[in-house]
Amino acid sequence: MKIWLDGELRDAEGARVSVFDHGLTVGDGVFETIKAERGRAFALTRHLERLATSARGLGLPEPDLDEVRRGCTAVLDANPMPLGRLRITYTGGVSPLGSDRGEAGPTLVVAVSATSRRPDTTAAVTVPWTRNERGALTGLKTTSYGENVVALARAREQGASEALFANTTGALCEGTGSNIFVVLDGELHTPPLASGCLAGITRALTVAWAGAKETDLPLDVLESAEEIFLTSTLRDVQAVTRIDGRQLADEPGPVTAEAMRIFDRESAADFDPR
Ligand SMILES: Cc1ncc(COP(=O)(O)O)c(C=O)c1O
Repeated sequence: MKIWLDGELRDAEGARVSVFDHGLTVGDGVFETIKAERGRAFALTRHLERLATSARGLGLPEPDLDEVRRGCTAVLDANPMPLGRLRITYTGGVSPLGSDRGEAGPTLVVAVSATSRRPDTTAAVTVPWTRNERGALTGLKTTSYGENVVALARAREQGASEALFANTTGALCEGTGSNIFVVLDGELHTPPLASGCLAGITRALTVAWAGAKETDLPLDVLESAEEIFLTSTLRDVQAVTRIDGRQLADEPGPVTAEAMRIFDRESAADFDPR
């Protein structure tokens, strides 16, 4: 396995980042997860734009997106696989052991791991913890993912693959690594970005391609929604057929199935949708 670290391709085994890297010590970093199908990165331009937005939000130096792109291509070429999780990590670099960032400059890693296509349906749970729609990191894809680690473990304990958060006002927000859509009276809705959710790339494409309204919704809409689905880079559009104790239909409902078809068709037609 080869990875990209600080400007060149290296053996994953031998590649090392400092134990004083601010990404490691305090979670001072940003990242992207990208779907790679047969060596091609889906929606790479959108992912690079979001990486830069997240970096700016965290006050990191502007990433050199040409270099990041070179790193992605090099890693994908060096590690052929049918379906991959391509991961870009960009951190504050070597720093003192506190929250002040050092002067050494950022660390950039690009790596890939093989993955398999997700099932069409899954189970999700709600968790009692909140997303903060007014936090310093709201809307940024940072490596400070401890809350998601805890929430996802709670979901796994209950046989589910995703945990869903409300924000501090009790509004439906997002999952640990996905956005949420619900069908109400036959119409598709998803929480607005003001709910504090990440601006998911799959979310944006689904809104554009399948047409969904951005609507403030209470968390308990999940108790009555006719259909529920998740979107994310590796899930695409994935139906939720069980939410907490509530069993929905066994198969994706009609609106979800249509959104899945549209997503498959449009993403196959344009691998880098702008
Ligand atoms: C917190 C969070 N919300 C939503 C998403 C979905 O975003 P995308 O569709 O860009 O993968 C992710 C990404 O994995 C995420 O980490």
